[in-house]
Amino acid sequence: MSTNNTLVIDENTVIHPSKEFSAKARVSSMEQYESMHKQSIEDPDTFWANEASDLKWQKKWDKVLDWKAPYAEWFQGAKLNVCENAVDRHVEAGRGNKAAIIWEGEPGDKRTVTYQQLQHEVCRMANVLIAKGVKSEDRVLIYMPMVPEATIAMLACARLGAVHSIVFGGFSSESIKDRLEDSKAVAVITSDGSWRRAGVVPLKDNMDEALQNNDTVKSVIVLKRCENQINMTEGRDFWWHEETAKVTATHKPEGFSSEHPLFILYTSGSTGKPKGILHTSGGYMVGTYTTCKYIFDMKEDDVYWCTADVGWITGHSYITYGPLFAGVTQVMYEGGPNFPDWGRFWSIIEEYGVTIFYTAPTAIRAFIKAGDEFVDKYDLSSLRLLGTVGEPINPAAWEWYYNKIGGGRCPIVDTWWQTETGAAMISPLPGCTPIKPGTATRPFFGVDAAILDEDGKECEVDQPGRLVIRKPWPSMLRSVYGDKQRYEDTYWSDYDGIYTAGDGARKDKDGNIYIIGRLDDVLNVSGHRLGTAEIESALVAHNSVAEAAVVGKPHEIKGQAVVCFVTLKTGITETDELKVELRNHVGKVIGAIAKPDAIHFAPGLPKTRSGKIMRRLLKELVATGKVTGNITTLEDSTVIAAIQKSITG
Ligand code: WT7
Repeated sequence: MSTNNTLVIDENTVIHPSKEFSAKARVSSMEQYESMHKQSIEDPDTFWANEASDLKWQKKWDKVLDWKAPYAEWFQGAKLNVCENAVDRHVEAGRGNKAAIIWEGEPGDKRTVTYQQLQHEVCRMANVLIAKGVKSEDRVLIYMPMVPEATIAMLACARLGAVHSIVFGGFSSESIKDRLEDSKAVAVITSDGSWRRAGVVPLKDNMDEALQNNDTVKSVIVLKRCENQINMTEGRDFWWHEETAKVTATHKPEGFSSEHPLFILYTSGSTGKPKGILHTSGGYMVGTYTTCKYIFDMKEDDVYWCTADVGWITGHSYITYGPLFAGVTQVMYEGGPNFPDWGRFWSIIEEYGVTIFYTAPTAIRAFIKAGDEFVDKYDLSSLRLLGTVGEPINPAAWEWYYNKIGGGRCPIVDTWWQTETGAAMISPLPGCTPIKPGTATRPFFGVDAAILDEDGKECEVDQPGRLVIRKPWPSMLRSVYGDKQRYEDTYWSDYDGIYTAGDGARKDKDGNIYIIGRLDDVLNVSGHRLGTAEIESALVAHNSVAEAAVVGKPHEIKGQAVVCFVTLKTGITETDELKVELRNHVGKVIGAIAKPDAIHFAPGLPKTRSGKIMRRLLKELVATGKVTGNITTLEDSTVIAAIQKSITG
C-alpha cells in the first residue's frame, strides 16, 4: 500500500483536491461551486430544470416548483416513470450489455445483472404484481436480503406506480406488523431467509408471524434464497421463480405525475411509533441523480459500491435509485463485513476494481479495531473517491480511511442527510471543496442550510444551534404517511416555513458545517436511528417492568450505545437473568439492532414535578458518572444517588 503517502491528520488538517482529480471533475473550483450554488438558491427553477433535462420525462413539466409551505410540488404537470429512468433509458441508449449490478452473496456466490437483464427481470416482477392485482398507489411491503431481487422488487413497484415500503431485514415481526398496519399494504415481497454470518435469518417465518390476523395483504411473493424450511400458505404465498416463469419479460412503463408517491420508509422519531416518511417521484429522482453526479462524481466507467442495506434510506437513494439513474455499474454485497473475516470488503474492492466506495464511520471504526493486516493483503489502488454517512466521523477514523483505504489520494465526501431529505444535503464536492475531518462542509445545490438559535436568529461563527433548511428542495419528504399533522408538527413548527432537521450544528469561520448530533430523543447507534420512546415502550410492555428510561452513551465503535434504566413492578426481584430476558424482549419487539447494551435497575427515575423523565440527567450520568447542575427541581432528588450506585454496581 502507499504508506509513503501517509499524512498525519488531526481535526485542523485541510486537504485540497488534487489537480488531477479537479481536472476531471464536474465542478473544479470553489468559485464555480459558489456561483452554481447561488443560482440554485436564487433561481431554483432554472437550476433544476437544467439538471432534470438529463433525465427522461414522458411529458415535460409546466412549472418547476410550486411551494405552499410546508407542501412542495416539484415538476408540476410532468409525467415520468422512475423505473424507466433507472433501467430502460440505459437500454435504449445502447448500454443494455453494461453491468448494472455485480453481486456477491455472503457464501461466495456471484452474479452479474446487466441493464438489459435488469429490464427483463423488473418487467417480469411488474407483470407478476399486476397478476396479483397490485395497482397504482397500492402499498407493497418488501422484506428482503441484499440480493438483486430486492432492487428488482423496488423497481417493479415503481414501474407500476405502486408504493414500496421496505422493512430492514434486521427488524422483528412486531415491527413488520406495525408497518403493515400503518401502510395497509396489499402485497408482500420477501424471501425464505437471509444469510448473516453463516447463519440464516428466518425472514419468511418472521413475516408469517407478522401476517397473523392481517386482512389487507392478499399475496406474498417469496424468493428462494437460503433453502431453509418454510411454510407456504395456499392461495396467499407464491414462489418468485414460479410466478416470474408464468409471465413475459416486457412491460410498457406508464408515465405518472411527478408527485406520484414512490415509497414510504419508516424512521424513528422522538415520540411514539416510527413515522412513515413519504417520498414522491420526480423531485426524488432529480435529487438523487444530481447528488450522484456532483457529489459522487459518477462517470461512465465507475464501479461504485455503497455498503448500506436497501432497508435504509441510503440503500434507497444510493443503491437502488441514484446510481441506476446515473447508469453506473455497482457492486452489491449480501452479508456481514467480517465474514469470513474482516478482509471481506477489501477483497471485494480488489476483485471488482471498485472506484467509488461509500460506507459509515461505525464500520470504519470496527475495521480499525480489527487490525490493518486485513487491509494490507489487498490492492485498493482502483479507488478514487470515498464517502461516509450516518454520523459525524471522528478524526482518527477519518485519518485511517483517508490514508489506509484511500492511499492518501482519494477525497472523502462526508455526506450529511436524513431519511426525510431523500438525498445528500451537506457534503464536499470532490473536485473543489477543501476537506477536513469531521465536517460535512458545504450545502449542496439548492440547499439553503442555516444554523439558528431558539429565536430564529442565525448563530455566530462556532456557536452551536439548530440545523435548518430554509427553502424546499426536490427530494424532500412530502408528508408523514397518513398523518399531515405529524409532518407539520415535527418538521415545520419551530420556525415559520423552515424545515428543522433535529440536529445540532455549528459553522466555522470558513463556512464548514459541523454536525453535533441529534437534539431530540433519538439515538444514533451504528448510524441507525432509534427512538428512546420506542425502546422504552418495548420495555414497559414486559410484565415485570413498571417504568423505563433509555439514553445513549458514547461508544467507541457504535457511536452511541443503548443504556436503559428500569424500575420493576413491586414484588419482582432484580436478577441478571431478568436483564438478559429484557434485552431479548427488546430485540423481539423491535429488532436485534435495538437490543440494549446495558440495563440498570433503578428504584425510581429522575422526574420533574410534572412527571417528565429527565433523560438529560441520565445521559450525563452514564457519560461522566456524575450529574452537574441543579437537581432540586426533581420530584425526588434522592433517586440520582441510587441510580449512580446502580451504574457503578
Ligand atoms: C441522522 C439521519 C442519511 C442516511 C443515514 C442516516 C445523522 C447522517 C451524517 C453525517 C453527522 C449524520 C444525523 C441525521 N447523520 N449523516 N454525515 N454527519 N451526522 O439516515 O436514519 O434518517 O438518520 O443521521 O443525526 O439527522 P437517518
